Amino acid sequence: MTTADAAGSLRGRDLISAADLSAAEVRTIFARAAALKAEFRAERRHADPLLRGRTLAMLFQRPSLRTRVTFEAGMTQLGGHAIYLTEDVVMGAREAVRDVARNLERFVDAIMARTGPHQVVEELAAQATIPVINGLTLREHPCQALADLFTLHERFGDLRGVVLAFVGDGNNVYHSLALLGSTLGMEIRLAHPAEYGPNERIVARARELAGASGGRLVFTSEPADAVRGAAAIYTDAWTSMGQEAEAEERREAFRNYQVNAALAAEAPDALVMHCLPAHRGEEITSEVMDGPRSVIFEQSENRLHAQKALLVECLG
Ligand code: CP
Ligand code: NVA
Repeated sequence: MTTADAAGSLRGRDLISAADLSAAEVRTIFARAAALKAEFRAERRHADPLLRGRTLAMLFQRPSLRTRVTFEAGMTQLGGHAIYLTEDVVMGAREAVRDVARNLERFVDAIMARTGPHQVVEELAAQATIPVINGLTLREHPCQALADLFTLHERFGDLRGVVLAFVGDGNNVYHSLALLGSTLGMEIRLAHPAEYGPNERIVARARELAGASGGRLVFTSEPADAVRGAAAIYTDAWTSMGQEAEAEERREAFRNYQVNAALAAEAPDALVMHCLPAHRGEEITSEVMDGPRSVIFEQSENRLHAQKALLVECLG
């Protein structure tokens, strides 16, 4: 619906791309997330119902565990309400996307949407007068990147110069990590097979952001080269939602991109990250996923805290 205002306030803003947030805005979200997390962990409830009376419509064209439950639980915990809507109701199947937007803006305070095509979320945002949050498209997953970099911020504080090595597909999760990490001055590496690289326009945008922040983007085809010296090793599914027909050829192409004990040994101090859902024995072994360096379930928990913070900043 809107773009950044002069004051940098997130109130009323959309989150469609991880590049929509400035470093100062990310720091505001992280600070709010840390406070909400501390209170929720101590009390299992919030003294101040910051989203009382607020309603979020959640539109899903793809399945979800974390995104659905963390947004819905987050709204409830802050005194608001979330409504789960599936593909048979929305997103052009029954009526045009713009008509969905024009209805929902009269009923609820914000929309969170998980679509296949990125253009659907962009269209929702263009048409609706209320904030629209991207809950994953084939191009980006900005809420995931927020939670992931909040997880690293909890460990390392200032993320400038911190190295994250993504091993596998140059996909939606990589794109959002590259954009947000570049905004924060991180070094984001990607080890990928030649034919599964990232979107060049997103890389170009990330390079601009990195140029301004002192960040860096590195690309290689060698997983071991990517992870050496990294603070975190990150992987994701070889086949994302909507690419199921390519699963067999992708399994072949990514065979040497598994995060396993041998690869993790190349970076003995690195944390291990995954956005989930994981395919144990494919992109990551159970030994590494369940090992002492894994922060995978902290990332998952932090979806709740980071998104609550985002909702409060956008709607509160
Ligand atoms: N990581 C993530 O977005 O999980 P879901 O697909 O279960 O929402
Ligand atoms: N890249 C994965 C992320 C799932 C949260 C997908 O799009 O399916």
